Amino acid sequence: MSETVKVIFLEKGEKKEFQVPVGTTVLQAARDNNIDLEGACEGSLACSTCHVIVEKDFYEMLQEPSEDEEDMLDLAFGLTPTSRLGCQITLTKELDGLTLTVPGETRNVSL
Ligand code: FES
Repeated sequence: MSETVKVIFLEKGEKKEFQVPVGTTVLQAARDNNIDLEGACEGSLACSTCHVIVEKDFYEMLQEPSEDEEDMLDLAFGLTPTSRLGCQITLTKELDGLTLTVPGETRNVSL
């Protein structure tokens, strides 16, 4: 049986908790659980649509973002000091309880 780790997404004011297999990326975990995270480039660091905001305590546990990730993050809507790209975070046992906020709409869709 593979090990799982808890991940918590805060989406539109709702808290959603899931158990996902260790080694899953945040982007994959979101997709598997119907969280609205686009990930347009499938994790190849060519978009910023997998932008998530990491809770501070966990942010400090993650590896530093690569330069390419930093460049893409600069283009993300609503960038914060603890923003990361979801496809670049792999879930490990140490990250149990990882809490992420899914940024709101990236476009203004009101008519
Ligand atoms: S899915 Fe495009 S950078 Fe993460």
